[in-house]
Amino acid sequence: MKNYIVGNWKMNQSLEEINAFFTSFNEIFPNTSDNVFVGVSPQSFHIPLLMSHPKKPEFINIGAQNCSQHKSGAFTGENSPNALKEIGTVFTLIGHSERRQFFGETSNLALGEKIQSALDEGLQVIYCIGESLQERKQNLTQSVLKEQTITALKNIKIENQDQLLIAYEPVWAIGTGETATPEQAEEAHQWIRGFLNELPNINQETPLLYGGSVKPENVDALLAKENINGALVGGASLKGDSFGKLCLAATK
Ligand code: 13P
Repeated sequence: MKNYIVGNWKMNQSLEEINAFFTSFNEIFPNTSDNVFVGVSPQSFHIPLLMSHPKKPEFINIGAQNCSQHKSGAFTGENSPNALKEIGTVFTLIGHSERRQFFGETSNLALGEKIQSALDEGLQVIYCIGESLQERKQNLTQSVLKEQTITALKNIKIENQDQLLIAYEPVWAIGTGETATPEQAEEAHQWIRGFLNELPNINQETPLLYGGSVKPENVDALLAKENINGALVGGASLKGDSFGKLCLAATK
């Protein structure tokens, strides 16, 4: 199976930093191989800028960090899926824990609809799930992941099964420097694979990415696990050299 390395730049990166990112990325990872998918999600208004950036290698796919369930209309501040597609965006994240935490998104509240709208437009979707520290301490990880997976995906109709990916991002590992151990991540990914068995509409081989303080130092051990098919990376995706090293690790 392919390895996926996707950078989530969140609300970061000035134009100067983007330029510096490509300069160092291109030194470390000038060419890709067929078995690696490389993606970056900038702030949405930077999407066209990145796509036409003179230093961007052809193989880097550009994505959005969020996408509305509506195609158009009076929804101030939202990204429309068809406008994203129209400008050439390849994929979108949906349900990132920061969207759930700060913007009130829940698996019940429109996440399934958002996924469906983005898929219908031909965007690839990286659906993000993950438990909080409190939920992990209360032994609720498995039930939280199940609810997040089943509720959002149970009614999804998907023609091209390659369009959907799932990212497991334990909230307590995001931006904290504390990574789930490869064993903890693999255990969660096995559970998620198990939940997919209950969803006949979804490809059982759906790629599962891990996210939460992934760095060049810990990526090899994570990617070595059977059910970890890639990484969704925040902090370490902001600098071209660390992101390039993650992509290199994914070619092994
Ligand atoms: P960090 O890699 O900074 O922990 O962020 C992970 C993340 O939220 C990616 O979506």
